[in-house]
Amino acid sequence: MTLLDFLPSLHRAATPRIDPAIWPSTTTVDELGRLCIGDVPLTDIADEFRTPAYVLDETDFRHRIRGYHSALKNVEIMYAAKALLTTDVARWASEEGAGLDVSSSGELAIALAADVDPARIVLHGNAKPTDELHYATSIGVGRIVVDSCMEIAYLACEVRKPQRVLIRVTPDIDIHGHAAVTTGVNDQKFGFTLADGHAADAAKRILHQPLLDLVGLHCHIGSQVTDPTLYGESIRRLIAAMADIRARHGVILHELNIGGGHGVPYVSSDPELNLAELGEIIEDSLDWACAAERFPRPRVVVEPGRAISARAGVTLYRVASVKSQPGGRTFVAVDGGMSDNPRVALYDAKYTVALANRHELGPTQIVTVAGRHCESGDEIARDVELPADVHPGDLLAVACTGAYQHSMASNYNMVTRPPIIAVRHGRTRELVRRETTADLLARDLGASRIAVGGHH
Ligand code: LLP
Repeated sequence: MTLLDFLPSLHRAATPRIDPAIWPSTTTVDELGRLCIGDVPLTDIADEFRTPAYVLDETDFRHRIRGYHSALKNVEIMYAAKALLTTDVARWASEEGAGLDVSSSGELAIALAADVDPARIVLHGNAKPTDELHYATSIGVGRIVVDSCMEIAYLACEVRKPQRVLIRVTPDIDIHGHAAVTTGVNDQKFGFTLADGHAADAAKRILHQPLLDLVGLHCHIGSQVTDPTLYGESIRRLIAAMADIRARHGVILHELNIGGGHGVPYVSSDPELNLAELGEIIEDSLDWACAAERFPRPRVVVEPGRAISARAGVTLYRVASVKSQPGGRTFVAVDGGMSDNPRVALYDAKYTVALANRHELGPTQIVTVAGRHCESGDEIARDVELPADVHPGDLLAVACTGAYQHSMASNYNMVTRPPIIAVRHGRTRELVRRETTADLLARDLGASRIAVGGHH
């Protein structure tokens, strides 16, 4: 017998509005009104691992990759590691049949530590350091996406055995999104433009190098794209560019990587990229473009990051204070902030927040959830509805924080970074431990000199 059996009217109130489009797929509310993910009450995680903490639903993460495989037949899926990467996450991605897109030696090292097959890794970057290129070629990375003439020249000198490469192309497609994540237009730092023949010139340079094996073209038009027709347009422009390279140099490229950027909802009214529609558009535009150019159908690759990891993640915070400013807003301040989630300050991102430790009963109020850092822009969510009696000690869960939170976290104010706790089938597993003050001091060489010999 639970309270709900005695008071059936509580049933409705006991179920906070948990929108399945935003929260991890295994989210439930137990009879005590506590939010649970992967059959683990979030309060248990907060008690054991303290807050702030990133919680990751392994089932949701794996399920997203399966969704890609069933919606996009004959398309290779490369998980964009920049969204969220730990060795376990890399292992889950490869167990689900995805390759990995990495953009630094650090990401590459984690992928290799997870035993990801190097042949299934693609290396990106507009300014890859030479030691990174050296590392990647020496471990036999599957693909390098070249982004500048300098890089082509360096690789030509560096490689001792054939290295597969793609050219990053700018198709001049504007996603009309946030400027920071709009990467398909000509006036930004990435890639070779189709305009003025820059991409064709890069192809010529690569084709002159016997050990560089040009296998295809790549483009990434930006992030939070919800209109699938933009990918259709990318395909048409890149097939035309491939046909141009065939006409000029007599080679047929057989790989077409259209990048990632698939949009996900952060709040209930947000649109999302529909994968079934994307699948149809990829097929139709390939058919159309290949027929128009009489070009053989290339293998298509996509690189989603956010669409795989974002909704698997929830961040837990403890309420530290509640303050109503005269004539102003009510601020619910929590024990984390822009150091564990810089996306609000950077992109004006919106988030969904729920009380995680008890029933949301009674009247509510509109509040701003603020962080603990020393600037007023340090907000987690503005104008969210929480119970009128929200108070210090309450546990808040912020949804859709599995992408670009942990990976972009900082030590601002010398705050230590939160752990990542995976949940699945009622069990927790700590994937990344909480950073400690000792970790911070360990990198500060002055601190160890003082400890050893005093001030000088
Ligand atoms: N492929 C390439 C070459 C990329 O540059 C990116 C993301 C992706 C794939 C994956 O994009 P996604 O599917 O995750 O949108 N920090 C920003 C997002 C930056 C994305 C950078 N590149 C944010 O928090 O919104």
